Amino acid sequence: MRISIFGIGYVGAVSCGCLASLGHTVIGVDVAADKVAMLNAGQSPIVEAEIDALIAEAVKAGRLTATSDVAAAVLASDISFISVGTPSAADGSVSMVAVDAVATAIGQAIRGKAGAHSVVMRSTVPPGTAETRVIPILERESGRTHGDGLFYYSNPEFLREGSSVRDFHAPPFTLIGAPAGDDATALRALYAPVGGAFQITSYRTAESVKYLSNVYHAVKLAFANEAGAVLAAHGVDAREAFRLFCEDRVLNISAAYLRPGFSFGGSCLPKDTRSFLALAEAGGVAPTLLGQLLPSNQAGIERTFATIAGFAADHGERRVALFGLAFKQGTDDLRESPFVTLAERMLGRGYDLAIFDRSVQVARLTGSNRAYISREIPHLERLMVEAPGAALAGRKIAVVGHIAPADRPAMLAALDGHTVLDLTGMAELRDHPGIHYHGLCW
Ligand SMILES: NC(=O)c1ccc[n+]([C@@H]2O[C@H](COP(=O)([O-])OP(=O)(O)OC[C@H]3O[C@@H](n4cnc5c(N)ncnc54)[C@H](O)[C@@H]3O)[C@@H](O)[C@H]2O)c1
Repeated sequence: MRISIFGIGYVGAVSCGCLASLGHTVIGVDVAADKVAMLNAGQSPIVEAEIDALIAEAVKAGRLTATSDVAAAVLASDISFISVGTPSAADGSVSMVAVDAVATAIGQAIRGKAGAHSVVMRSTVPPGTAETRVIPILERESGRTHGDGLFYYSNPEFLREGSSVRDFHAPPFTLIGAPAGDDATALRALYAPVGGAFQITSYRTAESVKYLSNVYHAVKLAFANEAGAVLAAHGVDAREAFRLFCEDRVLNISAAYLRPGFSFGGSCLPKDTRSFLALAEAGGVAPTLLGQLLPSNQAGIERTFATIAGFAADHGERRVALFGLAFKQGTDDLRESPFVTLAERMLGRGYDLAIFDRSVQVARLTGSNRAYISREIPHLERLMVEAPGAALAGRKIAVVGHIAPADRPAMLAALDGHTVLDLTGMAELRDHPGIHYHGLCW
């Protein structure tokens, strides 16, 4: 393929060397004349393992050149990769100055070109950039309509400096944001030699996954460093503790607990977080990250309540059916249940609640958990109903925290025109006709 790469910094230079090494004809484009000159002289503009030889070889073979002439680069290529910098602006948001400039220049160059041209965003940009920013710029400047001689893809870069050539050849996956129905055939062919799964999704999702990845890596590092300091303050070898912690690939290093949804609760997570915070304090370690976990969890309950309050304002009434009271489905354990907190929050604001949770009812009948209910939440006990239909009758708003599979048909049958807030992501609910469905964050 004939590829132009805009921005020959850490990402762009690696792409230049690696794509040329796969046999493609590559043109690096940069506003920095010194980087252009270095590349043309067969030298890498960045310090990075294994890249010097790749670039020297590609330039010598005539497969890699550099220029600052945007039009010439666009004319001589079929596809342009954008890997310009997106640094922090003064307010912490991302600066899109270079992205805007390069999209404008590429768009203008496409206007003067006969054939089709594709543009691929490799820089890290916020969700919405494709649809609300770059495609409009490209369409305006090129005079073309997206999909007709002009194609745009989002293709976040996941390489790490220091091992980026190796990462290029063994990516965690290749992620492409594309319009619905576009199979990104050219990119599929381009990346075929490097292997790894090829994932196609919407522009916004692809743009988001890059942010999720880096923020998650930051969370992991901050967690390891802070928790490690707490352990060390209590005489523990934190490296050894973390080595063993990482041996658990089922719950610790896995997709477990990584589905966005409603707040956590139960008898262990809040309690053990609090006691770890007490260990931090006793050890003189400021729990800057860990101290935010319970407030963050509480904020999730507040956001959910605010959503329910919005529905109540729309309907002009505060009668709500709540499905689920125990901290999760299939248990009668009400200790630190976020659903109890949510129910209390609604009651405090004068809501008229009906609550259905079969496990808690069974508990009440058999006496298990009874002392807790009578002692802590006797006022909730009298709001419990014995069938899903009884919760929904006369109410327009339903909040579905959880419900046992056996009770779902009865709930679905009784839903009729309700506004439903799904806190759990229940497929049957999402597809149910005749309701106003709202997913918590999907
Ligand atoms: N560095 C990494 O490890 C890494 C990894 C993954 C993703 N990213 C993302 O990739 C993007 C690039 O990062 P980087 O570290 O390579 O940045 P960088 O600062 O090293 O390189 C950016 C290059 O773009 C050039 N440039 C600026 N405006 C231009 C224009 N209008 N036309 C042509 N070139 C222009 C600059 O001169 C510079 O050479 C960023 O969005 C970054 O967040 C970086």
